[in-house]
Order: sequence, then C-alpha cells, then structure tokens
Amino acid sequence: MPATVIVGAQWGDEGKGKIVDLLAQDSDLVCRYNGGPNAGHTIVADGETYKLRHMPSGILWGKECVIGSGCVVDPGVFIEELDGFESRGLSTELVRLSGNAHVIMPWHLALDQASERRLGKLQIGTTRRGIGPAYADKAYRLGIRLQDLFDPKILREKIEVALTEKNLWLERVYGVDPIGLEELAARYEGYAQRLRPYLADTSLLVDRAIRDGKRVLLEGAHGTLLDIDHGTYPFVTSSTVVAGGACTGIGIGPTRIDSVIGIAKAYVTRVGAGPFPTEIEGPNQERLRELGGEFGTVTGRERRCGWLDLVALRYAVRLNGITSIALTKLDVLSSFAELPVCTRYELRDGTRTDEFPAHQSDFHSARPVYEVLQGWEEPLDGDLPDAARRYVEFVEHELDVEVSWVGTGAEREAVLVRG
Ligand code: GDP
Ligand code: IMO
Ligand code: MG
Repeated sequence: MPATVIVGAQWGDEGKGKIVDLLAQDSDLVCRYNGGPNAGHTIVADGETYKLRHMPSGILWGKECVIGSGCVVDPGVFIEELDGFESRGLSTELVRLSGNAHVIMPWHLALDQASERRLGKLQIGTTRRGIGPAYADKAYRLGIRLQDLFDPKILREKIEVALTEKNLWLERVYGVDPIGLEELAARYEGYAQRLRPYLADTSLLVDRAIRDGKRVLLEGAHGTLLDIDHGTYPFVTSSTVVAGGACTGIGIGPTRIDSVIGIAKAYVTRVGAGPFPTEIEGPNQERLRELGGEFGTVTGRERRCGWLDLVALRYAVRLNGITSIALTKLDVLSSFAELPVCTRYELRDGTRTDEFPAHQSDFHSARPVYEVLQGWEEPLDGDLPDAARRYVEFVEHELDVEVSWVGTGAEREAVLVRG
C-alpha cells in the first residue's frame, strides 16, 4: 500500500507511536500531518524508551520523516528533540520540515495558559503548549510560518505587528507581563540557523515519493474525538485530526491515499475536560489507570479511564473511512473477570442508538448501554486465549472492520498480526 493514513480513533494516546514505529520498518517515508508538541508518543524499543513530540514515529528506523504544513512547530521544543535524538546516536539528517507550518510563539504559550486560568472550572484542560492560539492566529492570518524565520527583516516585522496586539491582550485582559521584541527576534533568528538544513518543499517531496511507488505513512496526532470539526467541541484540540486532514496537512490529493488504519485502545482514555460516557466510576478506574500506566506523556496528568465505547468507535470508522484497526493494550484488560463494552447509547428520551449523536446535548447526556464480555484472566504471551479472541471478534463484528493488529505489551515486538 503506497500511502496509508494512521489515525487515532478515540481521544488520543491510543498507542499510535508504537504502531507507526512497527509499520515504519517497512516504509520509506513517515509524515506527521497535524498538531504540535501537545502530542506525546511513547515508543519502547530494545529496552529503551523514546518520547516523541513533533517527530514522526519513523525516526527510530532512520526513515525520511516529514513534518507537514498542517502542523504547528515550537522551535525550542523541536530543537531539543533533534538534540535528544542526535545525542542517543539517532540521525536526524532525513527530517524535513514544511516552510508552511506555523510557528508557536511565546505569546501563544502565554495566552493558552492565561486563558485556561481565566476559564477556571470551565477550562478545556489543554496541554498549555500554545496550540489553540497558534492555530487561531493561522486562521486569523496573523501567524508566523517557519519560512518567515529565514528572512530576518520579515520576521522582525511580523513579530512587531503581532506583539502590538498580543501585548495588549496579555497586559490589559490577562494582567500578565508583556513580551519584548529584541530578545525574541534574536532568539528566533538563532533557531533559524539550526533549522535551515531541514526545510523542504514537503508537498512536492511526498507526492513524488508516492508517484515513485514508495511506501508512505501519514501519521495523525491526537484522536478523532479531539478533531476541531467533528470532535466533542469545545473539548477538542485545534487541528484537523481525521484522516481527511492528511491531504491538507501534507499537501497531497485524496486520490493518493489507499488505506486508513485506525488505532484504538481496547478500552478508552481521555486527558482534559469534556464528556466521556463510558468513564468508569469506582475502583476499576484507578485499577485500569495503574495497569495501563495511564499518565500523560506531555503533562503527566492522570488520564481518565473508561470501558471500550463502540458507538464512538463506529463514528471514528465513519469519519476516517477506516479500513483496518489496530487494537492496542489488550494485555491491560487481562486481570478483569468481566469486561463491559458499550454498544449503544441511551438518550434523554429513553431511545437507544448505535450511532454517535449529532447534537452535543444528546452526547453530553448519553448513557452507555453495555454488553458484558467474559475476561480471560491470564497474561497474553502467545496465541490469544479464547475469551480474548472473542473480545477482538466482537469489536470486528460490531464495526464491520478487521482488527489486523492486537497490542499485547508496550515493547516493539508485543503485537499480534492477524488476518
Ligand atoms: P500515542 O500518543 O497514541 O502514541 O500513545 P501514547 O504513547 O501517548 O500512550 C500509549 C502508551 O501505551 C505508551 O506508553 C505506550 O508505550 C504504551 N503501549 C502502546 N501499545 C501498548 C500495548 O499494546 N500494551 C501496553 N501494555 N502498552 C502499550
Ligand atoms: P497524542 O498525539 C491526548 C487534548 C488535551 C485537551 C485538548 C486540547 O499523544 O494522542 P490542546 O493542548 O491540544 O489545545 O488541548 O486536547 N489533547 C490530547 N489528549 N493525547 C494527545 O495527543 C492530545 N493532544 C491534545 O488534553 O483535552
Ligand atoms: Mg500520546
């Protein structure tokens, strides 16, 4: 399959990094199409743990890695990532950055933090990495793009224009310190020197690779339910997460894409605020969190844990056109005697539906209707026990999509390939 999209099918942290790393082995090019350092992908390979923020998950195999124009880049964080890989003996020579990607500036971080503080109990629970303000400025046409960093005159002008407005907000609305021009312009000119070798026409590069029959992975950050248009708005991130975003986020046409792999955990987690119908009440929440190590890669926050939600997953299959699923972290469920799986929602008027509600109020008040599947209560270290196989087949049957990979541990090798 020349071009394959890999997309999170829940609220993020599904184990995309691990599956992309696995598939990258047999690929030529791995491209990130959305998001920024709000993403955190953990890969465990040969006993070493790697935490990726901007970097596509093909880096460990030394593949050509592209950061597309749909991404927002914090140069300081990205350079730290580059240095981190280099110091561990991994080459970053084949990393390519789109000049159209927008730059996260210090005022984006300051505004993200200040606005969350101000929202108080109503806050979204963002990663506070400046993501929302950076994408907002992109849409508002006040953004600074990576290519701007390479022309000191343009950079200084753009910073000046932006600061005139941003400092008003920071000082008058949020009561925090303004940002000075000189130190900032000098710092970003410095970043430009370090980033120059990585800049490329990434749309052209990826399109050519696909035409040449190379195998290309298009990696989405976050998860479908965090998508700006189709997620659980306003408790979402600010980019296009769904598979369609791979086209705009890289700069290729939809006809170039052959397949879409959805990554779903065998249960569900969510970080930050917002509705979550299958969130577990009681001790199993804590138990699942401990067993699954469900603490945020970026913020260290506790992830909220819930049972598998097939209504939401059916929605993800639809939005992304998912052609196969990787079901991760099945091993984490191994010590439960019974496993509730949500197959339908009950709405306020008592009706039941297996489709994701189109109206937010219906979703906010939806109650999960569970089927209880039998657990297997033994470790997953060989072929799947019967009950575990039935769990996987139940998912396939309900969604009418093949589960082609099953995750059985954090290590690179801990995955069963099916079908
Ligand atoms: P991503 O953001 O989708 O890449 O996911 P994260 O890396 O944030 O979170 C997934 C976590 O689960 C990471 O710590 C992975 O090492 C780990 N992981 C991935 N797949 C499996 C699996 O099949 N079993 C177990 N036990 N852990 C896994
Ligand atoms: P990966 O790629 C889990 C969530 C935040 C918050 C909301 C908005 O590791 O799966 P933002 O900082 O993006 O404005 O925050 O989105 N969020 C994620 N949750 N995994 C992620 O990425 C996330 N990226 C953003 O917790 O609720
Ligand atoms: Mg993550």
